Amino acid sequence: VFFPWTRCCGGNSRKGSCCCRTIHSDAKPKDPFTLAQKDLKSLYDDIRKELFVSKELKHLCDYYFDGKGKAIRPMIVVLMARALNIHSNRSGDLLPGQRAIAMISEMIHTASLVHDDVIDGSDKRRGKRTINEIWGERKAILAGDFILSAASMALARIGNITVVKVLSQVIEDLVRGEFMQLGSKETENERFKHYLEKTFKKTASLIANSCKAVSILVNSDPEVHEIAFQYGKNVGIAFQLVDDVLDFTSGASQLGKPCAADLKLGLATGPVLFACQQFPELHAMIMRRFTSKGDVDQAWQYVLQSDGVQQTTYLAQRYCQEAIRQISMLRPSAERDALIRLTEMVLTRDK
Ligand SMILES: *[C@@H]1O[C@H](CO)[C@@H](O)[C@H](O)[C@H]1NC(C)=O
Ligand SMILES: *[C@@H]1O[C@H](CO)[C@@H](O)[C@H](O)[C@H]1NC(C)=O
Repeated sequence: VFFPWTRCCGGNSRKGSCCCRTIHSDAKPKDPFTLAQKDLKSLYDDIRKELFVSKELKHLCDYYFDGKGKAIRPMIVVLMARALNIHSNRSGDLLPGQRAIAMISEMIHTASLVHDDVIDGSDKRRGKRTINEIWGERKAILAGDFILSAASMALARIGNITVVKVLSQVIEDLVRGEFMQLGSKETENERFKHYLEKTFKKTASLIANSCKAVSILVNSDPEVHEIAFQYGKNVGIAFQLVDDVLDFTSGASQLGKPCAADLKLGLATGPVLFACQQFPELHAMIMRRFTSKGDVDQAWQYVLQSDGVQQTTYLAQRYCQEAIRQISMLRPSAERDALIRLTEMVLTRDK
């Protein structure tokens, strides 16, 4: 009733199928990771070049750009760029500015992780000790700032004011999203809206606006920019919803963080908000951010007894359907179809 998700296929979508997903350029879409590989080979080397500075700072910054990340954001960006170039009757090859945007998206993302780990007091990420854990909070904050400044410099070098504006919005959204996460809302309706808006700002805005930026560089049609933006936005929100589900369902070792980490941080994500409809007792716990003794365990039990996990998963499916509907408006290409395939992988990933 209260979910402002975007409609799929003019509101006529059926569960699990989307009317727009008809034309494929290949029978079997290529794996997005494989297809994007050629454009991402030098990604981390390029980032390390941007960060070439004093030894100590370099050491800190190199720490996360070790080439072991999944580089999901750059992958989406390069696939989107190629799909858009083909849509605009060019060869698929990336423009230098588009390649830079893929790199910048990963830098902004990583800077935000470094800062998040300080805010959350996390000591581990991806099975590695965090920067704040090894070098202390002060240096971690500075390292995050430094990565952002290097990203801003790379962004300015692209030399397109519109692109600068679009990607600056991302940084504003990240900060506003983090602020939203620190607050809570009183009523259920407001709470869900707040959660989805927070999710857009903290996770989806980066993907959406990076997709829009590579579109701006190759095409002057605002409708095409909107398709790129909407694909990124919907995939980004779905990605985070699945992440929030995995926080309840995945074993501690898989995500590299303990189960119910969000509850322990006082955060009520999708599964809890849905569970609250069946177990109103959760309301008080959400309001006190699970700070009373036993709250985390109790809330955890309620969620697993409710259909909160299924409902959140279903919501993620809806967002993926909308992403597919949007991207299907582009001319067929292997990259477009890989982006469609990617939505499935977002939904079925287990870590
Ligand atoms: C690309 O080519 C097709 C077919 O020739 C044409 O209909 C379309 O308008 C062109 N698109 C752009 C962005 O130039
Ligand atoms: C940005 O790049 C696009 C594509 O080259 C161009 O059409 C647009 O005018 C540029 N905008 C600015 C403000 O430079």
